[in-house]
Amino acid sequence: MPNENTADYGPLELLFGTWKGDKGEDFAPEPDGDATSPYYETIVFERAGDVDNADDQVLAIARYHLSVRRKKNDETFHDQVGYWLWDKANETIMHSFTIPRGLVVLAGGKFDSNKISKPRITLNVSAKEGEEWGFTQSPFMMEKAKTLEFTQKMMVTKDTLSYSQTTVLDIYGRIMNHTDFNNLKKV
Ligand code: HEM
Repeated sequence: MPNENTADYGPLELLFGTWKGDKGEDFAPEPDGDATSPYYETIVFERAGDVDNADDQVLAIARYHLSVRRKKNDETFHDQVGYWLWDKANETIMHSFTIPRGLVVLAGGKFDSNKISKPRITLNVSAKEGEEWGFTQSPFMMEKAKTLEFTQKMMVTKDTLSYSQTTVLDIYGRIMNHTDFNNLKKV
């Protein structure tokens, strides 16, 4: 993608760089009752330029990788790669990412262009199984650990990034809210 430095990243501009935070808390499913794990995390956002779709839609792209380690034992227990995309003409943001469990997410939301110049940007996206913004899941996950909904709110300033997200899962014969939040600082 040729336009890394000239693309109009709109509300995504504040994301670029490396973020670290150790205030993370994960609430995740376990067969014998759900578990809370404090965690620390690194997220790296890079400029990925822009693309044209069908000669009509222009999307500016932020590419990222995040890695999450349990405080208890320093082991990586979550890894994620993806893109945030800004469709300026339609004031739409997308968050596409994959979780290395056999699960792909495409979440979307609106963003009011008048708020781009604010010192604090809030990005809200969501997805629901079977809808326009949704998921692709492996046959195993569809049967045993199905993701039904995902909602995410991310707040960014020039030196802070915080998020909270809820993933609704159908697992172990029940529906549960798998939640994560963290506060990170630009390094
Ligand atoms: C900071 C972010 C996250 C952390 C730390 C995290 C951590 C975890 C942990 C510890 C489990 C239980 C694992 C196990 O039993 O082996 C789990 C399960 C799961 N997570 Fe996440 N997760 C995160 C984000 C997400 C997101 C964003 C999604 C999808 C939108 C997701 C989808 C799932 C699914 C489908 C399972 C069920 C698999 C299973 O427990 O066997 N997770 N996650």
